Amino acid sequence: MDALVIHGGRKLNGRVAISGAKNAALPVMAATLLMPGVHRLRNVPQLLDTHTFAKVLEVLGAKVRFDKNECVIDTTQADKVEAPYDLVRTMRASIYVLGPLLARLGAARVSLPGGCAWGPRPVNLHLTGLAALGAQLDIDHGYITGQNVKLHGGNFHFDVVSVGATAQVMMAATLAEGTTVLENVAVEPDITVLGDVLNACGARIEGLNTRRLTIHGVKSLQPIDTTIIPDRIEAATFAAAAAMTGGSITLERVIPAHFEAALAKLEETGCVVVRESDEVTITGPSRPRAADVTTMVYPGFPTDMQAQMIAVAAIANGTSVITDTIYVDRFTHVPELSRMGANIELKGNVAIVRGVDRLSGAPVMATDLRASAALALAALVAEGETHISRIYHLDRGYEAFDAKLTALGARVERVRE
Ligand code: EPZ
Repeated sequence: MDALVIHGGRKLNGRVAISGAKNAALPVMAATLLMPGVHRLRNVPQLLDTHTFAKVLEVLGAKVRFDKNECVIDTTQADKVEAPYDLVRTMRASIYVLGPLLARLGAARVSLPGGCAWGPRPVNLHLTGLAALGAQLDIDHGYITGQNVKLHGGNFHFDVVSVGATAQVMMAATLAEGTTVLENVAVEPDITVLGDVLNACGARIEGLNTRRLTIHGVKSLQPIDTTIIPDRIEAATFAAAAAMTGGSITLERVIPAHFEAALAKLEETGCVVVRESDEVTITGPSRPRAADVTTMVYPGFPTDMQAQMIAVAAIANGTSVITDTIYVDRFTHVPELSRMGANIELKGNVAIVRGVDRLSGAPVMATDLRASAALALAALVAEGETHISRIYHLDRGYEAFDAKLTALGARVERVRE
């Protein structure tokens, strides 16, 4: 397994090209199962997760080829219906294949994803949403199974706003017979973009960017040809690096509106933010001010930036109260940050972070994707050397993260453990 060794104390300055968004690419990769043909996806980040998803598609009979950040997926022969446990358990988003398999092949056998680093992550809305379209699914020995399924239009209200379940049911509804109305859907850019991609393939989805979707089923769809949007969470993570190190970083190839909540919060800590059409420059203060954060669904402050904001708060001047309303137990980074000298009191889903003057480098362990990003950020400003083990968590969602940090002036090396 790889580890990152980071020597703290350097300001980060310069320009960084932000990669394609993992959470936008994965559902689009799943959507290729809705229609036979050769699909072309550009600006797909080279990550553990996109490669795992490629393996899932190959198990289902598709052919997948990466050429740098271009991914060509041929689903002409994709006629298998089983997504095995050994793949699904490594990446929950594999469950995205369920709806497309049912819609196109009328059958599926997809492993339940199980939990993740920070606890249970239910999929009940995926199942009840598909049931509203006529998919009678069983749970059999850890697998979600359905056969002889003929999807029809239906009405479904999501009692919790769910990115994944919205993507799942929206994809299935595009080929269902009749009209589907979905209420209280997610409006993250990943969803809006997925809907736009499907409409470009001949789907009839109305209401994108709103909490209510009306989807008129069609007989078939054309293959996908699209460019994946930039990763707003990667962009916000590098913006947090500028906030913490007091440097000035220009994020290239971004959509500023997609991470406005994070930019506004970083301005509250004292950062100067200049927004251009596809670039943002963030200049950090000598020391960030404390700021309170409450995560919300889009366009609120994203839960995927909660860990990184705790790292900012750890060295800020003052006390910050950071609340995660989306995942109440997503705090596995807290004990690791405390090992570096952070002063964090955890009360349920609320972290009370009293800023300290200095963190100290220490051996720490990455536990999940965004937690590892938070540890890397803390290491950038810590006194001395920080050794972050199990960095494969970081590789799941950040393309060439250490190379990008090094190019901005950080002292980072990747070592084999
Ligand atoms: C997506 O996960 C993202 N993953 C997550 O990013 C992100 O944290 C999350 O959305 C929230 O924004 C991908 O896009 C691949 P949800 P997802 O369904 O779809 C509850 C990262 O770091 N819920 O929007 O699984 C759930 O427990 C990853 O890149 C149900 O109750 O999240 C949570 O409280 C981590 N039943 C809330 O909804 C369900 O059936 C939001 O979860 C589904 C979800």
